[in-house]
Amino acid sequence: MKRRRWTVVLVTLALVLLACCGGGAALGGWAWSRAKVDTAGEIDFAHKLAIPPLAESRVDDQGRRVFDLRAQEGRRDFGEGGVTRTWGFNGDYLGPTLRAKRGEKVLVNVVNGLDEETSVHWHGMHLPAVMDGGPHQSIRPGATWSPTWTVNQPAASLWYHPHPHGKTAKHVYRGLAGMFIVDDENGGNKALPNRYGVDDIPVIVQDRKFDDGGQFAEGDSLGGVGVLGDTVLVNGTVAPYLDVYTERVRLRLVNGSNARTYAFGVVDDREFAMVGTDGGLLPAPIATDRVRLSPGDRAEIVVAMRPGERVTLRSFPEDQGTDFFNRRFTGGGDTLDVLELRAADDLEPSADLPATLAPFEPIDPAGAVETRQFRLAGRNINGQKMDMSRIDAVITKDTTEIWELTKLDGTPHNFHVHDVQFQVLSVDGQPPSPEFQGWQDTVFLEQGSTVRIVARFADYADPDMPYMFHCHLLTHEDAGMMGQFVVVEPGQEAGRPPTGSSHNHGQ
Ligand code: C2O
Ligand code: CU
Ligand code: CU
Repeated sequence: MKRRRWTVVLVTLALVLLACCGGGAALGGWAWSRAKVDTAGEIDFAHKLAIPPLAESRVDDQGRRVFDLRAQEGRRDFGEGGVTRTWGFNGDYLGPTLRAKRGEKVLVNVVNGLDEETSVHWHGMHLPAVMDGGPHQSIRPGATWSPTWTVNQPAASLWYHPHPHGKTAKHVYRGLAGMFIVDDENGGNKALPNRYGVDDIPVIVQDRKFDDGGQFAEGDSLGGVGVLGDTVLVNGTVAPYLDVYTERVRLRLVNGSNARTYAFGVVDDREFAMVGTDGGLLPAPIATDRVRLSPGDRAEIVVAMRPGERVTLRSFPEDQGTDFFNRRFTGGGDTLDVLELRAADDLEPSADLPATLAPFEPIDPAGAVETRQFRLAGRNINGQKMDMSRIDAVITKDTTEIWELTKLDGTPHNFHVHDVQFQVLSVDGQPPSPEFQGWQDTVFLEQGSTVRIVARFADYADPDMPYMFHCHLLTHEDAGMMGQFVVVEPGQEAGRPPTGSSHNHGQ
């Protein structure tokens, strides 16, 4: 926290000094204006949007659906001044979309083909902590990790990405990420556009900065959120367009960026239907013209198209509840054109949106056995940094808890919890806006405001193996803005997380 404050103070001082000394005025102004990105109307949308392939799978003799993922190095020409050195799963950038049905038992063989340790975390998945793929499930170079679990949650757009201790930002930025779609017979999915790659489109949005040689530039922003890129990649495609052949198109938006929060909308401000959040479908569609997604967040939207039109999905400037300085240097004032939707002259009819989407049972906060406070400031949570050997919260299995999340500094932060999908009870005492009424695993925090969430920690107990909670701005997470909780059987005490960073959990 101290260091962060000093950075702000020093940078501000430097800007003031620069502005005061002759000639420096130009420099100060240069830093200020350079920090703003505005690509509205500037993108040529010359590349067809890549659709991540559905991962192949087979069913083994134990009835498990088996997937294979291999993290590996690659090279890709993004058309940004050179061939970029990348990382990907089963390819050069990103990975295939895994897909499984509720009730199915899955097994994923994850091979680490890199020359450093990594891990693969199933973001949004409810599963035992040893299968979670957090920093305690590190995979050595050349080793295979084979987690297995039964998918048991509503239909949702989840995703997977590495979570190695202190290095998540680097691994995700290089390109390691993919979607995991959960299907569930009991939901409104059948009434929504659901042909993958046709009218049901994964949209993994990532900003990147390219250096002069066409390599991904890492580094930090002046605002301390980590790298903010001026080039948007969707599913790894720069300047992408999507041909739309149907009256409605469903976009499964994933904010797979390290640091940037987006406020998505259509360029003509048309209304669209928001149908899903992080952890599944909303009870009913919500008409809106913006959806804000912070890093790690997902949303499903359905956009109605008119024959022959071309419209752009854009991220608009927005108030992220940060201070003036941070608004400029953390991307809140940026405008980014993301994806062009090109409707065919003849559109195939789509079914009307259903009035209700999925059965939805709110968690009753009256049943909470515990209320905990989490205060985020600097790179700390409750004044502490992540310690792999420290358990920060011990939770009894099958109980409900309320967590109060407060952000105290001017930098953007969000809060992600492993294992569960939670509900937002209130924001500063007020009921949350409609788009927060669904299942969430990641929530954006406004400055100085308190978000109360409620979660039920069901099914899996393990006194020794923790789950994580953290800020999903990846450089913050890496800098220690993370903590650990264990779920235990009633009356059980917390054990000890395994020591040593590297484990190869073969199954
Ligand atoms: Cu998407 Cu702990 O992360
Ligand atoms: Cu996660
Ligand atoms: Cu943060």
